Amino acid sequence: INRGNGVKGLSELGLETLPEQYIQPLEERMCMTNIVPEESIPVIDMSNWEDPEVAKLICNAASEWGFFQIINHGVPVEVLENVKDATYRFFNLPVEVKNMYSKEHSPSKNVKFGTSFAPHAEKALEWKDYLSLFYVSDEEAFALWPYVCREQVLEYMKKSKVVIKQLLKVLMKGLNVNEIDEAKESMLMGSMRTNLNYYPICPNPELTVGIGRHSDVSTLTILLQDEIGGLFVRGNKKDSWIHIPPIKGSLVINVGDALQIMSNGRYKSVEHRVFANGTTNRISVSIFVNPRPTDMIGPLTELVASGEEPIYKQILYSDYVKHFFHKPHDGKKTIEFAE
Ligand code: SIN
Ligand code: FE2
Repeated sequence: INRGNGVKGLSELGLETLPEQYIQPLEERMCMTNIVPEESIPVIDMSNWEDPEVAKLICNAASEWGFFQIINHGVPVEVLENVKDATYRFFNLPVEVKNMYSKEHSPSKNVKFGTSFAPHAEKALEWKDYLSLFYVSDEEAFALWPYVCREQVLEYMKKSKVVIKQLLKVLMKGLNVNEIDEAKESMLMGSMRTNLNYYPICPNPELTVGIGRHSDVSTLTILLQDEIGGLFVRGNKKDSWIHIPPIKGSLVINVGDALQIMSNGRYKSVEHRVFANGTTNRISVSIFVNPRPTDMIGPLTELVASGEEPIYKQILYSDYVKHFFHKPHDGKKTIEFAE
């Protein structure tokens, strides 16, 4: 098969059976019997985010579920619609144009069009294409990011930053960390990456995955999904999975490993996965709010000073990320690197 066309290229060949490389081992395929239909993650109205009751909902969601949805978050609906349109525009470009951003051809490591997750390390591939954009400056984005999506992604990032700051302020307050100085702000949100994800129609969705089980390495992830659905998060009951239903205009927020580490385990970075879909293409756009690559991260000094035993050691964030990308998706295993 020609990987250069991405999964979208394969999908559009009209294959009747899934190429062997995408067949996941049995235990990684999604088993419908483990889905708990009566369970759902919280949906939180952000309009009164400073209200102590709302703050409590946010902190509880981050410690109990690791995932929640937000509504009335202040990111305008047209900004969300525009970035979804931009995502389709990018993936609908001729493959020769998209491949100008592949690992081999991209003018910068900050811009990467790719397929699956870590194709060189994976035994079985994932049914997904993506464009990953690491933000350095508006100037760089205008110079290097694809013109069909750069303005819409920048606007989405800029508008989301407001609600990101609100969430981090509330989450820090929940740990009795009331002052976010420059060093802490860098650890919490010193860098950002946006991924545009495309999950094409799959000939045998039951044999593969859109994305395999993983937790994010971010502080927080802000996810915009379309109306198709297919994102599942590990529930609190044994072996259970909970679907995250699309809610028009909402954003899905999840805790990443960096925040689990900084909060010394108080906030949970929870495993999640995405279904492959046999009838409909799906897109999503995630903003990963991360520490700066050069930051050392570990349990916050305030927590340790209050006498808590640190569960995690201090690690260089770029080493943590490197560890994540050098192996296939493997559930919650990445965080063992920090233990
Ligand atoms: C991800 O977990 O990275 C993407 C989730 C999604 O597409 O819904
Ligand atoms: Fe994820």
